[in-house]
Amino acid sequence: MSDITLQNRRILLGVCGGIAAYKSAELVRLLVKKGAEVRVVMTAAAQQFVGELTFQALSANPVHTKLIDLESELGVATGEDTVTGMGHIELARWADLILVAPATADLLSRHTAGRADDLLAAVLLASRAPKLFAPAMNMEMWSNSATQQNISKLTERGVRIVGPASGEQACGDVGLGRMVEPDQIVEEVSAKFSTGALQGESLVITAGATREPLDPVRFISNRSSGKMGFAIAQAAVDAGAKVTLIAGDCALDTPDFVKRVVVESAEQMMSAVEEVIENATLFIGTAAVADYRPAKYKQHKIKKSADTMTIELVKNRDILAEVAARKNSPYSVGFAAETENLATNGEGKRRSKGVDIVAANLVGGEDSPFGSDENEVTLYWDGGEKLLKRSSKTDIARQLIEFIGLRVREQKEELEKK
Ligand SMILES: Cc1cc2nc3c(=O)[nH]c(=O)nc-3n(C[C@H](O)[C@H](O)[C@H](O)COP(=O)(O)O)c2cc1C
Repeated sequence: MSDITLQNRRILLGVCGGIAAYKSAELVRLLVKKGAEVRVVMTAAAQQFVGELTFQALSANPVHTKLIDLESELGVATGEDTVTGMGHIELARWADLILVAPATADLLSRHTAGRADDLLAAVLLASRAPKLFAPAMNMEMWSNSATQQNISKLTERGVRIVGPASGEQACGDVGLGRMVEPDQIVEEVSAKFSTGALQGESLVITAGATREPLDPVRFISNRSSGKMGFAIAQAAVDAGAKVTLIAGDCALDTPDFVKRVVVESAEQMMSAVEEVIENATLFIGTAAVADYRPAKYKQHKIKKSADTMTIELVKNRDILAEVAARKNSPYSVGFAAETENLATNGEGKRRSKGVDIVAANLVGGEDSPFGSDENEVTLYWDGGEKLLKRSSKTDIARQLIEFIGLRVREQKEELEKK
């Protein structure tokens, strides 16, 4: 089996009523072993073939069987922690991928027709997640033009069909119709999460603005929203990394599977980084860390008096440069927000801080990325530069993670050669 893990992946397995349903138990075991979180939806027919309890025990999650279930709808109706409710819409949103194995002729037909008459059909219809079907049926059922037309339509709509395989069937016939073996299905599932660019990497990322307190009610800060850093944290999780996100003031939800550490000042951010950096293989500094902080923090609110006022500032430690200068430093990437001379300043920052990549962007103009959902960055590394053209921060984050993954692999290969 490939070494791509399914860590951080949520897989919804639909089990239909066919003889091959017994093989789905092994499928759950293999998916869980690869790190996936698995939830199982069984059709009514499937429950005649295999017991719900088997899937519950193997997935360590409750098995879902009913479309109309008062208890399951509770979370949706109240708007509270809807994931616990796990109504069909929640299940549809929860899944990173929906795998149906075995997929019966009937299920293929129902999904082709867009029906939603049981839980599995409804979830399939309601979900935008990629779908993978492993059909299993008698060879005549498979070769029937009705089934074949359904398969063509499903393929056209982007459903990936795995198998069926040829061989001896439960009914005694020999031909095409057997479900492909669970380990092969797991391979197909792993391939769906193609990026895997940061498999096995452990990332520490900083994001957002720091706040440098003057007194109990005032602070010095900046316009960084943290959106870019949060998007990168999400993209890194999607690429298989273990992610710790050290964030200043950001009104953003923590991406799933990301460990978030909340800090306020640059000093707190530095301490939080020092606590976790030892085990990190990657560091990305997207936070807009204040260069200076007030020299003195006043215990009580500063009163208005003279017409002018001077605040003495002292330099903060440089988190990025210190991380990059560590012995056995992680692969380090910094962000540079510049108002002019992007190339000179970006490349200059890379050299002066001793980091592997600087992602530089122009700020302050009409297209300033602060608070925006879009960005455009130029990457500078030893020996090259690359423009990631204006796009959503989600998209820029994915491209950046792919690129970092590539550079990290290249660097490892070079080290192995030496
Ligand atoms: C013993 C037995 C074995 C069956 N095996 C299959 C099968 O391998 N593939 C299939 O498409 N249908 C098979 N069927 C028919 C399905 O169980 C039937 O079409 C059912 O409605 C499927 O429901 P579901 O798609 O909601 O699970 C079998 C039926 C029986 C009684």
